[in-house]
Amino acid sequence: MTTRATVIGVGHYLPERIVENAEFEKTLDTSDEWIRARSGIERRHFAADGETTSDLAVHAAKAALADAGLEPDDVDAIVVATSTADLTFPSSATMVQAKLGITRGFAFDIQAVCAGFVYALTNANALILSGQAKRVLVIGAETFSRIMDWTDRGTCVLFGDGAGALLLEAQDGAGTKDDRGILSTDLNSDGRHKDILYVDGGVSTNTTGHLRMQGKEVFRHAVEKLASTARTALEKADMGADDIDWIVPHQANIRIIAGTAKKLGLSMDNVVVTVQDHGNTSAASIPLALSVGKQRGQIKPGDLIVTEAIGGGLAWGAVVLRW
Ligand code: ACO
Repeated sequence: MTTRATVIGVGHYLPERIVENAEFEKTLDTSDEWIRARSGIERRHFAADGETTSDLAVHAAKAALADAGLEPDDVDAIVVATSTADLTFPSSATMVQAKLGITRGFAFDIQAVCAGFVYALTNANALILSGQAKRVLVIGAETFSRIMDWTDRGTCVLFGDGAGALLLEAQDGAGTKDDRGILSTDLNSDGRHKDILYVDGGVSTNTTGHLRMQGKEVFRHAVEKLASTARTALEKADMGADDIDWIVPHQANIRIIAGTAKKLGLSMDNVVVTVQDHGNTSAASIPLALSVGKQRGQIKPGDLIVTEAIGGGLAWGAVVLRW
């Protein structure tokens, strides 16, 4: 018998305010047509003044708990993937813990930018397999609207705010690839690429900073590295692209998503796409897409899912799981 970290609940939350592409035409030399054609994005949600990352995370966590039919006290650990924490410290995860009324277990943040959710899932899987926790809430939550330079048309039209959550539980499997749960993970980073995607401020420099990006360079790395990490994760699970029911990719740009699917030899019919409605929500994009994919009736129990993401660092990775 083998223990598997298995998804037993999923949920998401999007802030109320929806911003259509056309709204940027009022302040920037851009157009709805350009944004759609170059990124696939049509609209995104922005958090209200005073609405923080942990607020979004709590809504998503409650939705995942409701989906599982469990209470906050049933959770042993909370991992929040975010690069836009409410405060420098404490972690957003401990704030979520308090807001859910949980007084036991442990909670911490993970920061791997757009790859954050894949890193968080991998860490939560390790906590479960090592017996540290039986049930782990894994949340991706971001308020990237707070770090946009609203005069930079090359970045500010691409990002949005939101949160998604999975509840993982230790379950016994037969130890085969037919088991439900996380079957393999693959993480990578290469800090030499810092300058193509970063925020030009931080605590140690006494500033907040804005997101800076060399879009073409990021694009070039993204397709190649995402296809490669997805293949490696599949190999670790002793599977191939033919076994995949759904790719649930980080939702940054429809052209990156399509390019990666093509490299893996898969049709877009096997890809869950939400970028048109959410923009790039960084660490929140994969759990948001999983939740929306389930709501749409795309993702069903037993489906084989590959999630893959890349972001600042560069940091990238993939997780193979059976839903
Ligand atoms: N509206 C109109 N024109 C624009 C805009 C805009 N919002 N933004 C840039 N342009 C202009 C540029 O200034 C440039 O003009 P120029 O030729 O006069 O210099 C022209 O459009 C073409 O710009 P490119 O950078 O060549 O456009 P490209 O086709 O590469 O698309 C984009 C840009 C969408 C940023 C693309 O490179 C991309 O998606 N890169 C990946 C970046 C990404 O998704 N990052 C997210 C974080 S990392 C991650 O999550 C994977």
